[in-house]
Amino acid sequence: MARRRRIYEGKAKVLYEGPEPGTLIQYFKDDTTAFNNEKRAVLDGKGVLNNRISEYIMTRLNELGVPTHFIRRLNMREQLVHEVEIIPIEVVVRNVAAGSLSKRLGLEEGSSLPRSIVEFYYKNDALGDPMVSEEHITAFGWASTQDLDDMIALALRVNDFLSGLFLGIGIRLVDFKLEFGRLYENDMMRIVLADEISPDSCRLWDIETGEKLDKDRFRRDLGGVTEAYQEVARRLGLMPGEG
Ligand code: C5P
Repeated sequence: MARRRRIYEGKAKVLYEGPEPGTLIQYFKDDTTAFNNEKRAVLDGKGVLNNRISEYIMTRLNELGVPTHFIRRLNMREQLVHEVEIIPIEVVVRNVAAGSLSKRLGLEEGSSLPRSIVEFYYKNDALGDPMVSEEHITAFGWASTQDLDDMIALALRVNDFLSGLFLGIGIRLVDFKLEFGRLYENDMMRIVLADEISPDSCRLWDIETGEKLDKDRFRRDLGGVTEAYQEVARRLGLMPGEG
């Protein structure tokens, strides 16, 4: 097979040059990292599951009119995406207290929040992705006020959709992280969802048992990480030979 030009390699994915200008190939690795790369492992088959789960969610979002970089899945580990200019901000939406919010504010994990909360983190490994405010984002020029308004509106729509989707399969959507990019087409720019949406970037708890079906299984050494991701895929109807 011809070797493709590698554009960028992240912790869990690689981006290659795509077949046409303005496209990229997003390759899902089995590598898993946490705590800003301090903890690492290779989990057999995780990339395949995340590729499939993210394909499903991005496809549904595209159908609903939430613009994403996703075009189509190419094979077990790769998807074709639009090339975008990544905005260096991670947008986290929280419905239930957990993780860094619980730690920072002393809230019991699982306690309900008065409303959904949107947070921003500056994507910078050397700084450990610090939390930032809208003021920082616009003052330092990482995104314009309009970009931010679009990102927040899209993040809340994604939250509505995902909360319902997961509720329907017995899963509570505790929180999740999104990334956005600028897509330039026909002299127009619009903000679109980028990266992936998978159990790597969401907290997903079984509604009945409270069992964690996400990357916290890896972060907290709970074991059964790929089995949990498989369970999410199964409930979404994505596992072959079932149904
Ligand atoms: O760690 P924290 O509680 O801030 O994470 C909130 C949500 O964002 C979790 O679902 C986590 O998986 C996700 N996240 C992520 N990538 C990061 C930081 C957080 O996907 N770099």
